[in-house]
Amino acid sequence: MSENLLEVKDLKKYYPVKSSSLFGKERVLKAVDGVNFSIKKGETFGLVGESGCGKSTIGRSIIRLHDITSGNIFFDGDDIASLNEKGLKKYRRRMQAVFQDPYASLNPTMNVFELISEPMKIHGNPTPAEQKDTILSLLDQVGLKKDHLYRYPHEFSGGQRQRVSIARALSVNPDFILCDEPISALDVSVQAQVVNMLEDIQEKTGVTYLFIAHDLSMVRHISNRIGVMYLGDIVEIAESDELYTEPLHPYTQALLSAIPEPDTTIAKRERIVLSGEVPSPLNAPSGCKFRTRCPHAMDICREVVPPMLAIGNGRQVACHLYDEEGKIIE
Ligand SMILES: Nc1ncnc2c1ncn2[C@@H]1O[C@H](COP(=O)(O)OP(=O)(O)OP(=O)(O)O)[C@@H](O)[C@H]1O
Ligand code: SF4
Ligand SMILES: [Mg+2]
Repeated sequence: MSENLLEVKDLKKYYPVKSSSLFGKERVLKAVDGVNFSIKKGETFGLVGESGCGKSTIGRSIIRLHDITSGNIFFDGDDIASLNEKGLKKYRRRMQAVFQDPYASLNPTMNVFELISEPMKIHGNPTPAEQKDTILSLLDQVGLKKDHLYRYPHEFSGGQRQRVSIARALSVNPDFILCDEPISALDVSVQAQVVNMLEDIQEKTGVTYLFIAHDLSMVRHISNRIGVMYLGDIVEIAESDELYTEPLHPYTQALLSAIPEPDTTIAKRERIVLSGEVPSPLNAPSGCKFRTRCPHAMDICREVVPPMLAIGNGRQVACHLYDEEGKIIE
């Protein structure tokens, strides 16, 4: 049996965008433009990149919240990329999601008991007593109390509401949870508590996470491996620690240089300030999409799309600066 729970091959999600003028041509927004990666069973794969680079689109594609343009999504060996709702039914329980804003994703008219029992009832037929037992044990797992059972979302803090969302996702024993910026809206003091809780849950249940954040400092602690995205592409994949100690792609280097290094034994990184704005995904640069902001851009970068090189030890980078061993080409 494969050690991968998820294998994503050449995934594309394009959106048609109507022109603002009456006779203008319809254009195509390439939100995700052919990405390849896999997530091992029990692993946390982090996905980072600036706003609009396509992180949520990848997440929503994987759990099939929408159709994709092309590609394959193997979930536990089965290609679910082109299944219709009927075909997806047997996978729905196994793939759950936690989003950034629990206030928007939790129905305000339902109390905690109703919120957590809803997915259980959709995916099974538990008795009221079974529901209550499971919910009480889930509340304990996510650090909430028995007397929270009949409270409503507005009666909780942001961190507590996110704990309710996590309990709701866990209630059906999923194999995979998409965590799309689950801590970004929380106070810094609460962020670490929620990350630690997600790690404890993974240790106990073996659940696999895709953990999305726009900030590299947030994903470092929780991720085993990290993919860095730019304008619809994954440009680098590495083990979390390796990515921090030796970022290869110039975009990863720039992202990392912007966060303070708390470990004083590591030499202070030189701050790399990127010039210009992220180009529009409706009009991405030719060749390497990062070339308009890259401090190392060369002639070839304008002409040729850099292929994703597997440079050993599971590391991958898409940049013309490197050879297949990950060495800088002189
Ligand atoms: N339904 C849609 N129709 C048209 N364009 C869309 C749609 N959903 C997303 N996009 C576009 O696709 C691109 C990727 O969006 P996505 O939400 O995946 O980015 P993201 O990396 O999650 O950003 P953020 O960090 O802000 O959440 C963006 O340019 C966005 O405007
Ligand atoms: S391929 Fe060229 S432009 Fe792109 S990141 Fe590498 S050096 Fe920079
Ligand atoms: Mg997003």
